[in-house]
Amino acid sequence: MKNTILTGDRPTGQLHLGHYVGSLKNRLRLQQDENNQLFIMIADMQALTDNAKTPEKVSSNVLQVALDYLAVGLDPTRSTLFIQSQIPELGELTMYYLNLVSVGRVRRNPTVKAEIEQKKFGESVPAGFFIYPVSQAADITAFKANLVPVGEDQKPMLEQTQEIVHSFNQTYGDVLVEPKGVFPAKGMGRLPGIDGNGKMSKSLGNGIYLADSQETVAKKVMSMYTDPNHIHVADPGQVEGNMVFTYLDVFGTDTKKIAELKEHYRRGGLGDVQIKRYLIEVLEAELAPIRKRREEFAQDPEHVMQLLQQGSQQAQAVAAQTLKEVKQAMGIAYFA
Ligand code: TRP
Repeated sequence: MKNTILTGDRPTGQLHLGHYVGSLKNRLRLQQDENNQLFIMIADMQALTDNAKTPEKVSSNVLQVALDYLAVGLDPTRSTLFIQSQIPELGELTMYYLNLVSVGRVRRNPTVKAEIEQKKFGESVPAGFFIYPVSQAADITAFKANLVPVGEDQKPMLEQTQEIVHSFNQTYGDVLVEPKGVFPAKGMGRLPGIDGNGKMSKSLGNGIYLADSQETVAKKVMSMYTDPNHIHVADPGQVEGNMVFTYLDVFGTDTKKIAELKEHYRRGGLGDVQIKRYLIEVLEAELAPIRKRREEFAQDPEHVMQLLQQGSQQAQAVAAQTLKEVKQAMGIAYFA
C-alpha cells in the first residue's frame, strides 16, 4: 500500500525539541519507508493569516525552518519540501471549498476558537485567519494525501477536511481523497518547556532549539525546573514534574541508568547539577549531529532555497493536476 503524506509547519520561528519529538522524528520514520511519499510544507500563507502586518517575521523564518528540516534528516531526494505560497492552486482550491463550509461551522472549530480567544482577536479576527482550516483542507487534498501526521491540536482541522471531502465528492463526484490523521504516541505529543510550564513554545520562551549552540543548551538545562523542595543534595527529591527526569525519559536510551538515578534522587544524596550534567550529555548525543548538519547547510542558503524551489515545482505539478480534476468535476473547466 502506497501512502501519500502531507504535513507542515508555520514558519514563525525556529523549530525546537518539542517539534523534534512531537513531529520531526515521526516524519523521519515515515520517510524511511519506500511506500511513503512525503510532502512537507512550509506553511507561510497560513502563518501570514495572523502576521499580515509583519510579513518579514514569516518570510525570514522560511529558511530557518528549511534548515531545521534538512538538519534533522528530512531528505529532499526522498521527500518533497516546499513553500505553501508558491503553489497558487492551494488558494484556488480554498475558494471553492469555502462555498461548502458554513460560517457557523468555521466558528465551531475548537482550535481556531481557542486561538482567537488567546490572541484576543474578538470581532477583529482577520477573515483569513478565521477560515485557515479550510485552506488547510486545500493543502491536504491538493496532494490527495491519505495520511496527515500532526499534533492533537490539529484534530479539528482533519475533521473539517474530512467533511469538505465528503461534501465535495457527494456534490461533484469522487475526486478528493479522505485523509486520516496520524497523532503522536501517548506522552510524545507535548514536551513541556524547560520551566515546566505547559508545552514548549516560542511565545513562552521556554524552548531548546535545534539551532542552539552546545553552550546555550547547557545553560538552558542548568536553569531547568526540577524540584523546588530539593534544596540540599542530601534531601529526598521528587522525580514527577521534574523536567530533568521528564526529558531523560523522552531522550535517554539507558533506561536502567535512568531508573537508578531516579531511585537515588528520591532517596536523597543526588544533586541537581549531577542529573543536569547527565541530561546535557544525553541531549548532546542527539543534537550534536543535527547542529553540525544545520551549520553545513546554513553556509549555503542559496542552495537551500534552490532545493525549496525544486520541491515547490514538484508540488505545484501535483496540485495543478488535482485542481484540474476539481474544475472538471465542477463543470468549470471551460477551455480544457
Ligand atoms: N496548522 C499547522 C500547524 O500550525 C500547519 C499546517 C498548515 C498543516 N497546513 C497544513 C499541517 C496541512 C498539516 C496539514 O502546525
